[in-house]
Amino acid sequence: MKLAIYGANGYQGKLIVTEATRSAEVILVGRDAARLREAAATIGLPEADVRPAAADDHDALVAAFREADAVINCAGPFTPTGAAVVRAAIAAGRHYVDTAGEQSYLKEIFDTFGAAAEAVGVTVVPAANDACVPADLVAGLLAERLGPLEEISSIHVITGGGGPSRGSLRSVIESMDLIKAGGLGYDGGAWRVGIPARHTSIILPGGSEAVPVAKFPLCEVVTIPRHVQVRHVEGLAEAALSARLSVPLDPAIIAGLPEGPTEEDRRTQRFTYVIDAVATDGRHGRGVVQGPDTYGTTAVIAVESARRLAANPAKPGVLAPGQAYDPAGFLDSLLPHGVHWTIEVGGDFGVASLDVRR
Ligand SMILES: NC(=O)c1ccc[n+]([C@@H]2O[C@H](COP(=O)([O-])OP(=O)(O)OC[C@H]3O[C@@H](n4cnc5c(N)ncnc54)[C@H](OP(=O)(O)O)[C@@H]3O)[C@@H](O)[C@H]2O)c1
Repeated sequence: MKLAIYGANGYQGKLIVTEATRSAEVILVGRDAARLREAAATIGLPEADVRPAAADDHDALVAAFREADAVINCAGPFTPTGAAVVRAAIAAGRHYVDTAGEQSYLKEIFDTFGAAAEAVGVTVVPAANDACVPADLVAGLLAERLGPLEEISSIHVITGGGGPSRGSLRSVIESMDLIKAGGLGYDGGAWRVGIPARHTSIILPGGSEAVPVAKFPLCEVVTIPRHVQVRHVEGLAEAALSARLSVPLDPAIIAGLPEGPTEEDRRTQRFTYVIDAVATDGRHGRGVVQGPDTYGTTAVIAVESARRLAANPAKPGVLAPGQAYDPAGFLDSLLPHGVHWTIEVGGDFGVASLDVRR
């Protein structure tokens, strides 16, 4: 199997190339040949297949992607250039995943490319990152057990890790207006900003004190309603993180930062994603996904996603993870990488402690 990785010389890109080489051949694609070659040498692949292609050079992108079985795009920020890369993957007839965390970009890809992807038999799964894939898959498993749902709240809490990469901070700038507005929520069949949060705190698994949470533009808010029958979906993050990322960032300061957290920093990081569901009959369910190192886990998830699409094609179109992959099988494939998941239905596991405002 051969995977084309766009943005391969970036911080996330190098982690993805390294992960991909465990099970596939790689083509490193990006806008600058010298930076791609330098990245290949850093990773220990001095002879790697390197294909320069700017995001607006459609023909060069298509030619590079045609050589592969699937495309992984990690060239963020995605809002300015991601759609051009999706268009090229579809034109090349190759399945596509990306590591985007920009909620409005994700919505645009779903709104724009479904018919074009279907017409040529290509599957596009955006936001194949550490958070959206497990949260979306767990939401689908909760819905299988609970039936039609009144609400899902997805809550992200991340500790340690040395802070975001430069690329993540640039994506935050692209999403600043949406972050300040609390992001898109889903209610009554449509996505929009300004939907009031139903929850303002959560007791985390194993915790005893309520942690304040605030609305945040999470990608699974866009993907979950595409395959789960649910009336209301909201994305929440620890209030302190949400407040920190709402402060405008100076691009010149970002340019002077290290490209991303060190390996040592990444080893200190833990993420907890809680997916709370309430069925229309009032029963509760909770899914929890916990693991280390969001960038390392994103590399594993993006490569696993692309490999699955190439080896066992899903139906064509733009799909949520829960429409493209066997949920339990995919989640279990993350266990050797330290990512654990649980689902409980029918208890009160902290849901009673949620501050519900209807
Ligand atoms: N959970 C999540 O939401 C999650 C998790 C992980 C990663 N991500 C996302 O993944 C993305 C990558 O992060 P990173 O840390 O790897 O960033 P990075 O180190 O800045 O790398 C970005 C890559 O994209 C390329 N690129 C940027 N703008 C481009 C343009 N206009 N045309 C062509 N190529 C362009 C860069 O090429 P040059 O070197 O030539 O500039 C570089 O190869 C970010 O958007 C981040 O938010 C999201």
